[in-house]
Amino acid sequence: MASEQATAREPGGRSVLDELDNRIPTNFYWYLAALACVGGFLFGYDTSNIGSALAFIPYHLSSFVTGYLVAGASLGAAVGALVAGPLTDRFGRKSLLIADAAIYAIGALLSAFTVNVGMLLAARTLIGLAVGADSAIATAYIAEFAPRNRRGQLSIIQQWMITVGILVAYIIAVIILKAAPGSASGLDWRLILGIGAIPAVIAFALRARMPESPRWLMLHGRLDDTRKALGLLGVEASQQEIERAASEATRTEERRRSKTLWTKGVRRALIVVAVFFFFQQITGINVPFYYGPAVLAKFFTTGGGGTAAAVNAAVAGVEVTAILGAVNVIATYFAFRYIDKLGRRPLAIGGYAGMTLFMLVAAAGVAYLTGVPKTVVVMVGFAFFISSFAVGVGGTGWLIQGEMFPTAVRGRAAAIAAAVDWIGNFLIVQFFPTWNARVGLGWVMVGFAVLAVLALLFVARFLPETKGLSVEQVLEVWEPRESAARAARS
Ligand code: BGC
Repeated sequence: MASEQATAREPGGRSVLDELDNRIPTNFYWYLAALACVGGFLFGYDTSNIGSALAFIPYHLSSFVTGYLVAGASLGAAVGALVAGPLTDRFGRKSLLIADAAIYAIGALLSAFTVNVGMLLAARTLIGLAVGADSAIATAYIAEFAPRNRRGQLSIIQQWMITVGILVAYIIAVIILKAAPGSASGLDWRLILGIGAIPAVIAFALRARMPESPRWLMLHGRLDDTRKALGLLGVEASQQEIERAASEATRTEERRRSKTLWTKGVRRALIVVAVFFFFQQITGINVPFYYGPAVLAKFFTTGGGGTAAAVNAAVAGVEVTAILGAVNVIATYFAFRYIDKLGRRPLAIGGYAGMTLFMLVAAAGVAYLTGVPKTVVVMVGFAFFISSFAVGVGGTGWLIQGEMFPTAVRGRAAAIAAAVDWIGNFLIVQFFPTWNARVGLGWVMVGFAVLAVLALLFVARFLPETKGLSVEQVLEVWEPRESAARAARS
């Protein structure tokens, strides 16, 4: 497949995409990336708040309903991603980001004002769909305007927002439950679930004014809008320059379409990103987050009975997990700092190496220690395990999801990859308790460490380095033979 960028330039002419690629991001770029990632914040918030609220929902929750409320969200997210993919390729990134914020807001409000289990399930289903849709689109939107030397940083904001969302969910739960312990089964759980509506409504209002992705506009022949979007991004271009760039980009896409959009290279890229995502989940990152309160709280509480004890236990568990959540947020800074300097591969390889080592440390704590030493070693092991993930694996996954595919199928390919992530997430959430009960926590952790080694080998063998390349050059990395053949012909 030819480089869209190379062909978007007439001989001797100026390439507007080139200019976009080489810009130094202004505040507006950072603002746009953050706005695209408000959904990431809600993704973190809404997948974590249910853990704190669940114990206090006053309806009769069958085990199916409980499972649906916790794990069903992951499957809903997989569906949301798959639905959003084709829609965003057809209707644009911005339209879907706006719709997504609206669904988040409606889901949160319905959760807060729920009158029965059915309504709660419907509300959480909506939220699951929004989380999935968001995870399919956010970094694709960013990749389409980000200058190449800062695309890593701008995309890591998604991971950062996810981690902040997770942390804020715990902090808000602790504040609410401590401020009004008597209303745990009244107002508290509704507030915990409903507060996500505030950022969602703000994002809805602000996203309505964000520019559409210039690459997507260009591909769809909306040249006036492309010029306006580029103007907002600080790239002034004449109508003629835009026309030239667009007709070349479209010609390239048509050449590809006449064969198939899903060339061998695109399929290869999709498999690598999807497998990366699967490993991102099955190496156990969400065990400390989703099951941290249950696994760790017992080291910190004295037991007892009644609602007061239940609130105390919940608060203790959430507090412990909040510490891990804070570590996660802080460690993500290092991903932000180094992703464009060192590159995706070294961070991912280092990340999985660290995850292997520290998961084994925590496992040894579980297996061989007791009392305070056990608590300390398990907490330290988990903290460094999470840090390793945060630096090398979390954000890298969402970044490569946005940058590896061509514009015409970016939405669909990114969506399939995101769906694989959510299916991996579902498998862990669903089956961890059973595995834990069967073989014991220590062995489950050893299993995660083994999977992290496999992930490391996979990255070392199959993940190409894409640091500093434009998104069009990234495509050439996947289709080297075809590019070489075309170069030989011309
Ligand atoms: C993962 C989430 C995880 C989070 C933790 C994300 O990259 O997709 O499943 O909860 O990182 O920081």
